[in-house]
Amino acid sequence: MHAEPLSAFPPDFVWGAAASAYQIEGAADEDGRGESIWDRFCATPGNVRSAESGAVACDFYHRYRDDIGLARELGLDAFRFSIAWPRILPDGRGRVNTAGLDFYDRLVDALLEAGIRPFPTLYHWDLPQALEDAGGWPARATAEAFVEYVDTVAARLGDRIADWTTNNEPFCASWLGYGWGVHAPGRRSVADALAAAHHLLLSHGWAVEVLRRHSPDAEVGIALDLSPIQPVSDDAADTEAARVMDGSHNRWFLDAVLRGEYPPDMLDRFAQVAPPVADGDLAVIAEPLDFVGVNNYSRWLVRADPASGEPLVVRPPEAQLTDMGWEVYPDGLYEVIMRLHGEYAVPKIYVTENGAAFADVVMHDGRVHDLERQAYLEDYIAATGRALGEGAPIAGYFVWSLLDNFEWSYGYSKRFGLVYVDYPTLRRIPKDSFSWYRDLIARRHAVAHPEAASPARA
Ligand code: FCB
Repeated sequence: MHAEPLSAFPPDFVWGAAASAYQIEGAADEDGRGESIWDRFCATPGNVRSAESGAVACDFYHRYRDDIGLARELGLDAFRFSIAWPRILPDGRGRVNTAGLDFYDRLVDALLEAGIRPFPTLYHWDLPQALEDAGGWPARATAEAFVEYVDTVAARLGDRIADWTTNNEPFCASWLGYGWGVHAPGRRSVADALAAAHHLLLSHGWAVEVLRRHSPDAEVGIALDLSPIQPVSDDAADTEAARVMDGSHNRWFLDAVLRGEYPPDMLDRFAQVAPPVADGDLAVIAEPLDFVGVNNYSRWLVRADPASGEPLVVRPPEAQLTDMGWEVYPDGLYEVIMRLHGEYAVPKIYVTENGAAFADVVMHDGRVHDLERQAYLEDYIAATGRALGEGAPIAGYFVWSLLDNFEWSYGYSKRFGLVYVDYPTLRRIPKDSFSWYRDLIARRHAVAHPEAASPARA
């Protein structure tokens, strides 16, 4: 374990935690919320472990004030949450559900009152089912509907939001949902995945303009899942496998958003299933951004698989793994940040997600001693500090997640929270990592505002 280099973090560095609507809110049938693709996906046997769903989740919809109390106790500068499209437009477009807007209005005000910057994401995977029924993200009309939704949300909240994130992880939303079928809506088609990815990116580009109109002073960005992808050996075939996987996971999205092009080698590879790109789309997608959010957890080691012709992920020997089976690899966060800074010259970077699932238990003393999570966060924050020290423009860091929550197809079996949630009672138990993160933030704030930390003078 390293101590994070204290001096690397500037005084205005944003310390945060993140979550998303479907994973924490619950209240799936309340106040006029429409059905989302995740409600439907969870209801289909075999999709989610133990047939669990986000129907109740952490019940954040009713308990948000208490949870903001926890965020305040942590000393968070910002809270990253997402807005559920089916609460705002239950049918995806058309009819606006005012009760849905009211909820986020109250949430934003409660955060502001607590001195915590609301850091909303507009799409964290809960597409209204009605839009999926009409074609989903492979259809261009879904990106057009997103503009209507963003316009509705920004008209209501835009006066109080300083940081907007359009889409969360378009790679996962497209490939896991439409390519591999392991996330909602559970389709398995490479052509659909590529078309979905294109329309997610297009929806992002269009949304940037809408957000700037409603919130002229706000900063706008996107959250991308970026992981280093490395060959398992120097063998030419393995190196090529890593290049290909980097092409579909990382470069596809980075090149589109930051350079206005899809990587030519990947377009060749996908020639038979090319996405439906209309004239001008890539210019929209590459609309200049104020920041790029990085979601990073691990790295992927790959080797060539002559049988399938596809890169194959291999488990690194002797690696320390989290409960997700993901390797603990703090240098990976440093590497992706330095790539954004060096290769793509991104003006501002947030680590919008980073964290680890471990099999936490409440001990006889009623506490959760999650030392592994603390060590993980400590090392990844140190990696962030190292990138800062080398000039990367990192403005903030968000732990995934504030609370244990619904981890998609893994249901409630994976705990990422700084706060343990006892699902049968919904009781919150701050873990040891909570106290550790609270103290780290307090030390940073003391460096930034020494006068506030010194005893009052008579
Ligand atoms: C990311 C997702 C987030 C959470 C973490 C563990 O890919 O954005 O919702 O599930 O992984």
